Amino acid sequence: MHQEIINKAEQLKKEIAEHEYKYYVLAEPAISDYEFDMLVKELEKLESEYPALITPDSPTRRIGKDLIKDSKQLPHRYPMLSLSNIYTREELYEFDRRAKELLGSSGDIEYVVEYKIDGASVNLLYEAGKLTYALSRGDGTIGEDITHNIKTLRSLPLKLRNYTGKEDFLKSFEVRGEVYMEIADFRKLNEEREEAGEKLFANPRNATAGTIKLQNPAVVAGRPLKIFVYSLLSDTLKLQTHYENLILLKELGFRVNRGYTLCRNIQEAMETCDRLEAERDALAYEVDGAVVKVNSIPFQKELGNIAKAPRWAVAYKFKAKQTTTKILGITWQVGRTGTLTPVAELDPVFLAGSTISRATLHNLDEIRRKDIRTGDTVFIEKGGDVIPKVVSVVLSERADTSLPEAHPANCPECGSRLYHPENEVSFYCPNSECPAQIRGRLEHFASRVAMDIEGLGEALIDLFVTRGYLEHIQDIYSLQTHRDELIRIDRLGKKSIENLLAAIEKSKSNPFHKVLFALGIRLVGAGVAKKLAEHFGDIDKLIAAEEEELNSVFEIGPGISSSIIRYFSEEKNRLMIEALKAAGLNFTSVKKTSDVPADNFFYNKAFVLTGTLSSFTREEAKARIEKLGGKVVSSLSKKTDYLVVGESPGSKLAKAKELKVEILDEDGFIKLIGKPL
Ligand code: IVH
Repeated sequence: MHQEIINKAEQLKKEIAEHEYKYYVLAEPAISDYEFDMLVKELEKLESEYPALITPDSPTRRIGKDLIKDSKQLPHRYPMLSLSNIYTREELYEFDRRAKELLGSSGDIEYVVEYKIDGASVNLLYEAGKLTYALSRGDGTIGEDITHNIKTLRSLPLKLRNYTGKEDFLKSFEVRGEVYMEIADFRKLNEEREEAGEKLFANPRNATAGTIKLQNPAVVAGRPLKIFVYSLLSDTLKLQTHYENLILLKELGFRVNRGYTLCRNIQEAMETCDRLEAERDALAYEVDGAVVKVNSIPFQKELGNIAKAPRWAVAYKFKAKQTTTKILGITWQVGRTGTLTPVAELDPVFLAGSTISRATLHNLDEIRRKDIRTGDTVFIEKGGDVIPKVVSVVLSERADTSLPEAHPANCPECGSRLYHPENEVSFYCPNSECPAQIRGRLEHFASRVAMDIEGLGEALIDLFVTRGYLEHIQDIYSLQTHRDELIRIDRLGKKSIENLLAAIEKSKSNPFHKVLFALGIRLVGAGVAKKLAEHFGDIDKLIAAEEEELNSVFEIGPGISSSIIRYFSEEKNRLMIEALKAAGLNFTSVKKTSDVPADNFFYNKAFVLTGTLSSFTREEAKARIEKLGGKVVSSLSKKTDYLVVGESPGSKLAKAKELKVEILDEDGFIKLIGKPL
């Protein structure tokens, strides 16, 4: 290829990246959209004539064409911590006082205060000046590879600015940031979804979190995601302050939120929090607080972390946003276990990122205590991800004719007479065949946190129950026998039914504890289900268990035990379990290598550990390896992939050399699997 063509392509890539930077990072476009598109077209043309010109960091490669089926799990080099929340000025001063005490200093501590952006956190890996990986937070130590989706964000540099390759400390580093969606963009997206009959997102954060996990990068590229970054982490970077870190990020071409402020002491930090809170309504995106960070990096190191949060930073949460609206009516919702929950139907109002038309009223006691009535004007509030709630009634606006709220005598769904157990605040519908309970059980079973059957949501369940395709949970697994009829149902169509049936099939591979949780046994939440699955390992053993044995399982109290016993004593539940077993669901927890996809780098890699590691216990190292899909074996053989060598190793080291097994010291091991918390 002619040198001239290579140069031309290089120049175009640079020019396009520069315009992306000006437009998306600085918000100061230098050319028109049309001129920009022409540059991209020119590069695309060159690349299609000379495919050798295509590099992963080319601006034309932001949007991949392939679907990402099984995404990889990968370790974060440095754990992704969370922040402790504080809510009052006193707590902020207390944070400063403790930091001084730990540092043994009485002088003022400098802080940087930033907005806490309400989105989804991401970890970006840059190597040799280029973006190589983007991971979701995951559990803080291991994240999911979302590179293909994050690359579509034009506010993120694929290649660093002002990087010559000589800066040793920049050869390899991680950048932490928050991906988010602006409120106006979020509303527009939801309007489009409503028109297309698709499920709406609850708020911009959910829309963001849902989008970055999609399999199709082309869809992600069409969603209005943006990013702010707030930290660069590298072993070799020798910066003294967090403030310099932010400046460096800006120099490298990253988008840093403008709110950051250097404060000389905690008083200034407090004033900055107040200012940022006062200014938040003018922002185009959601923030849920301010982050107060110790500026000095040596101080940060000295303060260290407790559990999963740093001692050098806190999140100062802003007050929940409140607004007033009118209660149009109070309805009673029947849950999957028959509990009735009062719901306030509201005149829709927009608050903190979403339109609110309903708020939970918890129970009758709550209604009486706050004296909430139909027709009242009320204050409602929403904090973080909690369901909106009614805070108080504006009594001055109450109509003279208003009456206290009465509770229903009969189930609003099936008409059964409600019962009200002594010592309980709730009313129950006693009819387990009540349509609302049936729908509730099915919805819970298929939900993301349970069997995660994509596509089987509220609307479809409603439709299938009404048309008689679904009644019991096990009916989900015979839906495929009605495939042709389902396809003919108005507005469903072949593609969506096929996707649904595939999702149902896929759900069969869920582990036992998920299935157990999905059954919806009263008081058996996800955590309890996990404990039970670990302890009993098999549904038949659980069914056979006496109350005493159930009580002996850690954290399982008598209430849960008797609920479990009552559940399994009902024949229809046992028949359902038999049917689900026959459909192929997991009712035992055999230890599989893991749920990690087979194309994962670690999949089935065999590790042998010898000697003492300084930053992990054996169990921690083993757990980490297994979580990534690898296995730990006790004896060395040719089939061993790695020997991990700690302090005072045994004879295994010599043997590994003999067998030519790759040997990792602790640093090498950490490079491979990430640092411990
Ligand atoms: S600092 C150890 N700064 O908040 C430092 N986090 O609970 C931990 N977040 O999901 C994070 N804006 O992604 C930091 N300016 C900011 C932030 C921020 C949003 C998110 C972060 C994480 C959560 C921490």
